[in-house]
Amino acid sequence: MKVPIASPVMTEKMIEAAANALRNERLTLGESVFKFEDAFAKMCGSKYAIAVSSGTAALQLALQANGIKAGDRVITSAMSFVASSNSYVVFGGLPGFADVSESDYDLDPAKLAGAIDGKTKAVMPVHLYGQPAKMDEINEIAEKRGLIVVEDACQAHGAAYKGRRAGNLADAGCFSFYPTKNMHVGGDGGMVTTNDDKVADLCQRMRHCGRKKGSNYEHDIIGYTYRLNSANAAIGLEQLKMLPEWNEKRRAAAKIYDSKLKGVGDLALPPQPTKDIQPVFHLYTLRTKKRYELKAHLESKGVGVGLNYEIPIHLQPAYKERFGYNAGMLPVSERLCKEVIAIPMFQDISGEQIDYVVECVREFYK
Ligand SMILES: Cc1ncc(COP(=O)(O)O)c(C=O)c1O
Repeated sequence: MKVPIASPVMTEKMIEAAANALRNERLTLGESVFKFEDAFAKMCGSKYAIAVSSGTAALQLALQANGIKAGDRVITSAMSFVASSNSYVVFGGLPGFADVSESDYDLDPAKLAGAIDGKTKAVMPVHLYGQPAKMDEINEIAEKRGLIVVEDACQAHGAAYKGRRAGNLADAGCFSFYPTKNMHVGGDGGMVTTNDDKVADLCQRMRHCGRKKGSNYEHDIIGYTYRLNSANAAIGLEQLKMLPEWNEKRRAAAKIYDSKLKGVGDLALPPQPTKDIQPVFHLYTLRTKKRYELKAHLESKGVGVGLNYEIPIHLQPAYKERFGYNAGMLPVSERLCKEVIAIPMFQDISGEQIDYVVECVREFYK
């Protein structure tokens, strides 16, 4: 049997929706884009959603629209995809990293305060693998220090924290629709969510080259070409309808994995849902000291695995050399980056596929 690590869905209905947008709409920023934005804002419970060309673009625009500029430091997790901090280093923002907690792999509020310096203007908690960060504590520290908070919810579509959805827990939220995410748009895409009129307006203009609203070729701010294509938005709309059901299926699959893998070898299970924290299992991850051996074994059996992430951001060559970071700076992130392994998780993973993955994992520990 072969079990992939992820399995992006593309139904005939989604293809038809894209074709319909291609035939009948403006090809970019067409009607489907605005419908997708409305539906996505509703899902998050936020006032606005602004569709853009990627999750990285969403993070960049959300920060810039909140006033973050070159020379300002933004603190995020190093235990994340490199795009989290690329999003502001590209416009001259300064990276700052605080360590993550062992309990949820997200930004540790206890470490955050110590990482704030005079240049720090924003915090970007990452809801890693779909697990919401400790937002109350993070928001409280940020408020005391006058910092903007932008959620990197690129892996957390539909996740909830204390009854509120990711994307509606801070000054702005950002999502990626990269194909392996819990929902996608049939290519690259992203979304900014916010309740702030001014931030929404700036994001709308910045994604469209800085064009003045209602004007033809008049541009009153410097912007980017970060628009979302209409066909992608049409697919996103169809995917969004499925998201609640898909997330429930991921949660159910995670429960089965938990029950069957508990106590096996040296494995540690992923952070668990609580009454307050409802993750969406973008990835299902395990911790082990034998990660590379387990990976080789699973791959030899046709089971896909992911190492998210092998190199924490501060030790990526592009960051280490430029900013003078060293190993040992973020011990928990660095340890997790050596021990975490993701096993197959997607909405339609079958009971048979789960059983096969579990059997292969158990076999490894025998
Ligand atoms: C945590 C995180 N941040 C940012 C991004 C960037 O999103 P994109 O690849 O759509 O630019 C991703 C996704 O790939 C991600 O997983």
